[in-house]
Amino acid sequence: MLEWGSILIENAKIMDKLTITQPDDWHLHVRTGKILNTVIAHTARQFGRAIIMPNLKPPVVTVEQALSYRQEILDALPTGSNFQPLMTLYLTGNTSVEEIKKVADSEFVHGFKLYPAGATTNSDAGVANIEAAYPLLAAMEKYRVPLLIHGEVTDAEHDIFDREKIFVDSQLSQITQQFPELRVVLEHVTTQDAVQFVESASSNVAATITPQHLLFNRNAMLVGGIKPHFYCLPILKREQHRQALVTAATSGNPKFFLGTDSAPHLTHLKENSCGCAGCYSAHAAVELYAQAFEQANALDKLEGFASFHGADFYGLPRNSATVTLQKQPWQVPASYGEADLSITPLLAGEQLQWQLI
Ligand code: NCD
Ligand code: ZN
Ligand code: ZN
Repeated sequence: MLEWGSILIENAKIMDKLTITQPDDWHLHVRTGKILNTVIAHTARQFGRAIIMPNLKPPVVTVEQALSYRQEILDALPTGSNFQPLMTLYLTGNTSVEEIKKVADSEFVHGFKLYPAGATTNSDAGVANIEAAYPLLAAMEKYRVPLLIHGEVTDAEHDIFDREKIFVDSQLSQITQQFPELRVVLEHVTTQDAVQFVESASSNVAATITPQHLLFNRNAMLVGGIKPHFYCLPILKREQHRQALVTAATSGNPKFFLGTDSAPHLTHLKENSCGCAGCYSAHAAVELYAQAFEQANALDKLEGFASFHGADFYGLPRNSATVTLQKQPWQVPASYGEADLSITPLLAGEQLQWQLI
């Protein structure tokens, strides 16, 4: 047996078992009602905590609403689960400085989410003019409340594959310049440009990376037929960008951490002439990341990315429990949930190499 840090390798030649500190998911959609009931156990099986996205219909805009949503999530958990939902509020043109102070004082709410209006699923209530929200960002900087950003411009003239880079160049660079002490998480980065921006920014700026953006480029979605279950926003990019994300995630740089962006949609709403954006990955999140890290020969970097960097950035204690992954191929089910409410998971019907035991 060989030990690297806290990672146990029980076969030095073929690494087939991996024990790491229990990870957290720093970007997660769980919805409400029946979908919540279908998906929450998948996340609770693997993760100690998760940052819960507020893009419900209507959005979660007050601490009071976040606390009642938190209770709904706790009530949906399997008995005995210690999973902790970490709540966020949806930033709108009507957010008040008073609400920002309440978040700063709340032990359960951990940040605001900025959706440029119209950028993604349920973002109609998002911010139409980011400069108009600057007084709110100033308050977040002052009260040390993290700002989580869906970083894409929405102007119709911009090509969908360029939307993240243009956001970083035209908006994010302004935000970080104007508010140097503001804690910013650029969510689900998908481009080399975003990676480079985060790397060269101050330690107040970090990023989450999804499993689909580490494992797939846009060919997965578009070659050999259109594959709606690979469609998410920001959209999958070309191979060069995927490689930049893998390099960032496996670099050991604490600015990059795990955020699945697992975003359940009913199967018939994805397999549709106007399919919804979002990949459902909570069923196998840690397993998918393990596959990506193994392909990069970097399983020894998984624990930092999955279990340390996010907690450190949010100023929360690292988890004390551990989880063990074993190399034991298994087949992803075709769907989860009741027939009329079925959710098709990422890589449905395919084999995965790693399994959480
Ligand atoms: C997310 C969703 O479905 O809520 N969809 C997605 O494609 N990522 C929203 C988001 O995170 O942008
Ligand atoms: Zn998003
Ligand atoms: Zn998301």
